[in-house]
Amino acid sequence: MEVSNNETIRVEEIPTFEGSLPAPNGPSNVPERYIRDLEDMPKSLDLISLSSDIPIIDLSLLLDQHEEELKKLSKACKEWGFFQVVNHGIEKDLLQRIKDATRLFLDLPLEEKNKLSMRPDDIQGYGHTFVVSEEQKLDWNDTLVLIIFPTRFRKYEFWPTKPEDFKEIVEKYSSEVRRVVLQLLRSISLNMGMDSDALFEQHKELLQVLRVNNYPPCRKPNQVVGFSPHSHASTLTMLTQDDDITGLQIRHDGQWVPVKPIPEALVVNVGDVLEIWSNGMYKSIEHRAVANESKDRISFATFFYPPDDLETEPLDNMVDFQGSLRMYGKVNYGEYLRKYTREELQGKGHDQNTKLKIEVTT
Ligand code: OGA
Repeated sequence: MEVSNNETIRVEEIPTFEGSLPAPNGPSNVPERYIRDLEDMPKSLDLISLSSDIPIIDLSLLLDQHEEELKKLSKACKEWGFFQVVNHGIEKDLLQRIKDATRLFLDLPLEEKNKLSMRPDDIQGYGHTFVVSEEQKLDWNDTLVLIIFPTRFRKYEFWPTKPEDFKEIVEKYSSEVRRVVLQLLRSISLNMGMDSDALFEQHKELLQVLRVNNYPPCRKPNQVVGFSPHSHASTLTMLTQDDDITGLQIRHDGQWVPVKPIPEALVVNVGDVLEIWSNGMYKSIEHRAVANESKDRISFATFFYPPDDLETEPLDNMVDFQGSLRMYGKVNYGEYLRKYTREELQGKGHDQNTKLKIEVTT
């Protein structure tokens, strides 16, 4: 197989994620397969008032190892598992260019987009993710999934060639998002009492995957789910989204709290790997997306993962830190990720599989 740097690699080296069906036709009305049972529907208990409590982290202060900002970050990871990052240095123009380029791709006729369709044994490409049976209800979204780094894992046959500058823009955007995540990993390492490079080094290559989510307007938004409740199998996830539509909701204290977009901010969340490494101190939070009636919404979720062969378990210093109680068992990360992508999304549950059944007595 030929790849960008003229290096030849074995196909089996490329991580695969099983369990996806090819994309169905783009929804313009509401086919039966998208209509949910009442109990699966977003309830009207959303606490919009709590949206403004979701922590906001200033990256420029983290660069200076600003003590108060580091504390704020630690609190955000512990109490919310979600935060928004401002002053990250990604240019507004680049955020607009990736939106525009993606819009042009999404506006192509379905036959064109389906040329990039995901295959049943893979997750890269255009279609629906986490579809594991013909009976399963579908989320009201279309996705495009691309592995970005390391570059030898890229499958360019799934990269849009229209518009022509799609690749260049996605590469620029992804490098910028990577710069931000490296800074966050440094700050979180310090907060976990380690050297600033410790978390990055755990990852070796730091696998980076982009998922573009497109949520078309829906005539019956209250009968469908935009993205089913789930947590992420990543270490960290970073999301950019449209500024004028609130679609993402996170689980906090048993309630669904909408994440009100802050213009140009990145939404960051703790994934299962960081929850396990931190021995449960940081929380990988269940979240979902809702559909809306009037506007198309696009979000760009970038996931950062450790390598397949990593044995994932709480880091020793985090276990010592928490009175020697080890909250999670050891798991091979490749197996963990494959299990994650092979199952239907059903809320938070994947890291629960590795959680040790420990009776904590106080
Ligand atoms: C995801 C995700 C939320 C959104 O892609 O995993 O959680 O708002 N997306 O699109």
